[in-house]
Amino acid sequence: MRIRAQRVAAFGTTIFAEINQLARQHGAVNLGQGAPDFDAPLPVLEAAIQAVRSQLNQYAPNIGLPQAREAIAEHAERFYGQRVSPEQVLITAGATEAMFAAILGLSDPEDEIIVFQPVYDSYVPNMRMAGVRPRYVNLYAPDWSFDPDELAAAFTPRTKAIIINTPHNPTGKCYLRRELEIIAELCLRHDVIAITDEVYEHILYDQTQHTRLATLDGMAERTLTISSLGKTFSATGWKVGWAIGAPELVESVNRAHQFITYSVATPLQAAAATALKLPDAYFEALRAEFQRKRDWLLGMLRKAGFRTFVPQGGYFIMADWRDVAPAHVQNDVQFAEWLIREVGVACIPPSAFYRAEDKHCAAHLARFAICKRDETLQAAAERLTALRTNSN
Ligand SMILES: Cc1ncc(COP(=O)(O)O)c(C=O)c1O
Repeated sequence: MRIRAQRVAAFGTTIFAEINQLARQHGAVNLGQGAPDFDAPLPVLEAAIQAVRSQLNQYAPNIGLPQAREAIAEHAERFYGQRVSPEQVLITAGATEAMFAAILGLSDPEDEIIVFQPVYDSYVPNMRMAGVRPRYVNLYAPDWSFDPDELAAAFTPRTKAIIINTPHNPTGKCYLRRELEIIAELCLRHDVIAITDEVYEHILYDQTQHTRLATLDGMAERTLTISSLGKTFSATGWKVGWAIGAPELVESVNRAHQFITYSVATPLQAAAATALKLPDAYFEALRAEFQRKRDWLLGMLRKAGFRTFVPQGGYFIMADWRDVAPAHVQNDVQFAEWLIREVGVACIPPSAFYRAEDKHCAAHLARFAICKRDETLQAAAERLTALRTNSN
């Protein structure tokens, strides 16, 4: 009997699962997966407990709990001046489900969707399951910019949508307004939908501003904005996300969502409403705290001998390891394995974010997570600094 469906036959286990397992096996300090090792803010935890105790334990409305949808709409206006009604908000099981439901609800088999490479690892498998073809446009180091001509050439009569992840995982790129304007112009010219993944919208460094593509001229009616609670409130395990957009966009996504999960954990949606209404001071403190951690980890990686790329947002630092590793280490997967086994620190090999023929683009790189307690970063620092001392 052939058990496995063709649809999933080519999918391996995710690199995150593999690295986590190897890290556990070797007792490594884990700067791999983008999950904080500190907890969500107390008022948010208490709101969830309160909701569980207030009989909010049955199915939520399929589109989401009204108070959560109101809070998401208010948050969009507070931070971006994006005016949407709560009816234009759909609550999903994290940004991950929002993206899958968006691809299923907005595109047909044989349609094409444009993605920027390195590309977050769930988008292309989502497309494959939907029978949709990915078209790749590269982001180029050191600033991870794209070539506007290459982007323009990726649009074809079959293009249904383009996905933009900003701030970007794994590079830390925050798309500049000028870049988003180029994307918007192409979407308008080719009548294409934009789907944005903005899960790191509040993790920003230096003076970086996050621009929401949906707020650019002409884009409100053709942009689906996806985000989630996980990164902004250090609650990645809650898997509460949302999609915002014009009524027909959201209704199309919900046609898929209603038959994937139907609805999402009710008490956590109630807590999401509390979280999103936290005062500006919460968001400012989060930003300052991440700035401090990013600066510290950048300094530490440089001291250990890495050449670093400076992220403008998000949870990660990309670093070139070629001055650090012994000669037998030939690529990023070997480097990640060597670092876990010999040094006791886990990172993610970023070739996981490239298709097979482009994996060489990331062969000299490693991705380190910033979202860790100071003690964890300190423990990693001790091990990595010893590496420099030993190689001298
Ligand atoms: C770019 C990006 N999108 C989506 C997700 C997942 O979001 P959620 O946990 O809300 O599904 C992540 C998590 O690492 C991510 O980096």
